[in-house]
This record gives sequence, structure tokens and C-alpha cells, in this order.
Amino acid sequence: MKKPSTNMKDSKYLNRRHFLTKSALAGIGLGSISLSWAKNTNGSHKNYSPKSNQATIEKRKLGSLEVSAIGLGCMSMTSGSYNPPRTMKQMVPVIRGAVDLGVTFFDTAEVYGPFTDEEIVGEALKPVRNDIVIASKFGFSFENGQRAGRDARPESLRKAVEGMLKRLQTDRIDLLYLHRADSNVPIEEVAGTVKDLIKEGKARHFGLSEVSPETIRRAHKEQKVTALQSEYSLMERAMENQILDTCEELGIGFVPWGPVVRGFLGDKFNEYSRFRDDSRFASVPYFTPEAIEKHMEFLFLVREWAMKKDATPAQIALAWVLAQKPFIVPIPGTTKLHHMKENLGALNVSFTSDELKEFREVFSKIELVGMRTPESVLENA
Ligand SMILES: NC(=O)c1ccc[n+]([C@@H]2O[C@H](COP(=O)([O-])OP(=O)(O)OC[C@H]3O[C@@H](n4cnc5c(N)ncnc54)[C@H](OP(=O)(O)O)[C@@H]3O)[C@@H](O)[C@H]2O)c1
Repeated sequence: MKKPSTNMKDSKYLNRRHFLTKSALAGIGLGSISLSWAKNTNGSHKNYSPKSNQATIEKRKLGSLEVSAIGLGCMSMTSGSYNPPRTMKQMVPVIRGAVDLGVTFFDTAEVYGPFTDEEIVGEALKPVRNDIVIASKFGFSFENGQRAGRDARPESLRKAVEGMLKRLQTDRIDLLYLHRADSNVPIEEVAGTVKDLIKEGKARHFGLSEVSPETIRRAHKEQKVTALQSEYSLMERAMENQILDTCEELGIGFVPWGPVVRGFLGDKFNEYSRFRDDSRFASVPYFTPEAIEKHMEFLFLVREWAMKKDATPAQIALAWVLAQKPFIVPIPGTTKLHHMKENLGALNVSFTSDELKEFREVFSKIELVGMRTPESVLENA
């Protein structure tokens, strides 16, 4: 293959619009699906009935839990992280549209909103509750309706789950994650409490987020861990080796968050992008002006692979993550149904092992700024 150009001038025409005119959206035969109930719904489930021609897409296993090979991350619907919070009325059709497209895996957390994200997810999925998998996360305390600190004490965890069940309008959480390690509560105690909740039928599976291999092992001894959720993408690769190896050895699924680098590999930004001081992006070290300018080289490379594969950059980002291990299920976050549809097109993009090697050889030489070190993310509890 000719060496992908990283020259800004060569690459500037290979932009997102260019790709979207191609076949990417119809990549897995989704182009013809009409999203009638997604369009018609007003946020209530009264008029809703699942479509008879609901799409079926590839499934993957997280431990013993089967989910669609790509899920929907619902955080940015309410967190204010990447866009202003959206309303129930705006987001219910997006979530239900994803169901129509074959997505069965939905990711939320108590802290998103806080609380409102679960309300939206619960309302949207109530009519199809038995056909889909809901993952939510606990582990923070709240004061005056805002996140205050970490709190994974048994009594707090139980209280959190009661709140989740109400907001999600369900009697069980399919995948209950500890969102962040709490250094005041040994992981065995957290795992033990989740074990009891599973016995009581209030949770079905146990997950962890951003913890070290040692913590995963200790938790897994007490209560089988079904999935680990941590940041992982073409650009943020701190999770490679130690974490993926641990998951593989223990039969734990891996759920990458940030798989399209918070929109960067969705081609949402360019070298002139700047963020307000109060924006979430302003506090992400790989989005500083210096970093973003440097990272354009990475984006140009991804665009070239996208051209080569008749795909979009976001699809390349997701297909690459999916190609790393069969137990990986990314949950790209979106507030837009057309992005969800585009992201599912990644299931139709494959890499040979030679291509994966060639891609890695080139991208690993690109200098990245502000990425995390394993030590900074693999926390112990
Ligand atoms: N465990 C944890 O600690 C943790 C931390 C963060 C997130 N999460 C979970 O992981 C999910 C995903 O992570 P993330 O949302 O931080 O990062 P992400 O999925 O890499 O990026 C989300 C951003 O990318 C944009 N995007 C998605 N698809 C796109 C496409 N095809 N083209 C262009 N832009 C696209 C979205 O904007 P639009 O809305 O415009 O599509 C959104 O702003 C979250 O929703 C959340 O559920 C977990």
C-alpha cells in the first residue's frame, strides 16, 4: 500500500461530507429501513409498537451476556459533556430508532444528568424491555442534585439501585457497573453487595469501569465480572495488553467507551477547533489546541483508510476496535439517529490481519499529545 499521506493539503478534501455521499450509510443494508415509530413518537410509549421488520445485526458475548456487537452510549444525551442536554422528547426517538436498527445494548449511569439519563433510557425502552440489555453504573455520591464524590458503600449501592430501578422503569439492571473505584471500600465488599443484588434478582450481571487488572481479579473471585468498561480507541490505547489480556484470560467482555475519540474520529473537529473554558472538551488533555493540531495527522490517516474501505472515519474507528478481540463491544455515544446508523455500518467493514498490522505500524509512529498512561487509569480499590 502506498504510504498514507499525512499532508494537510492532500487530505483536506477527504472530508466527512465526501464519505457520506458514498455507500457507508447503507453499509449493512440499513439504508432501506424506515424509522416510522422513531419519527412519530412523542416521548411516550403509548403510541409505540416495535417494528415488525426490525433489523437483526451481529451479536457478541460479554461473558455470558449476549448483546448487539455495537451498543448505544447514552451519556451525551443529558450529561452536557459534548453538547447541551437534550430532552426526553428529543432522545426517546433516537433510542427507539436504535432498537429498530437492531441495537440491543444501551449504556447509561446514575451520574449522567444526574439521574435524567436513566429516566430517558427507561421511558424509551420500557415497551421492549425484555428484548434489550440495559447497563447502568453506580459509585458516586450526590449533593444538591450534583455529583459530589465517590461512594460504593453497600448501603449507598443498594440505595442507588433502588433509584435506578424506578428511573429505568424496570425490576432489574442487566449489567450493573461500579463506575469508579472507591478507595474507602474494598472491591470485595462491592462485589459481595452486587452478588447479593444478583441473588435478589435486582441485577443480572456485574461490571467494572477503569480499574486495574489486580482489582478485576479480586472482584472476579467474589462475583463473576461480566464486562469491563474503559476508554479505548485507535488513539487512546492505554488499555491494550494488561487489561485486554486479563479480560481474555478471565472470560470478561470489554466495552470501550470513547471509541470515536469523543467525536474526533467522527470528523467533528479540525485544527481550528477551540473550546470554551467551561466545556468538557477544555479539560480533556488530548483536545488542547496543541494536541488537536498534532492529531490532525492521525485523522488524515483514518480518512485515507476510510476512502480505501469505502467507509467513513467513524466506521473505521469502530471497525478497528471491533477487530481487536471478539469480546469487544463498543458503545459509541450519540444524540443523532443518523450517526447511530452510520456507526452500525462499521459492522460491514473488516480488516485482514495484514491490514491491521500495516495500519498499526503507521499510526503508532504518529505522535499523540495528552493521551492517558496505564498508571493514570488503572485504579485499585
Ligand atoms: N465508564 C465510563 O467512565 C464512561 C466515560 C465516558 C463515557 N462512557 C459511556 O461510553 C459512551 C461513549 O463514550 P463517549 O460518548 O464519551 O465518546 P464517543 O462515543 O467516542 O464520542 C461521542 C461523541 O462522538 C460523536 N459521534 C458519534 N458518532 C459519530 C459519527 N458517526 N459521526 C460524527 N460524530 C459522532 C457524538 O456526537 P453526536 O451526538 O453529534 O453524534 C458524541 O459527541 C458514552 O455515551 C457513555 O455511555 C462511559
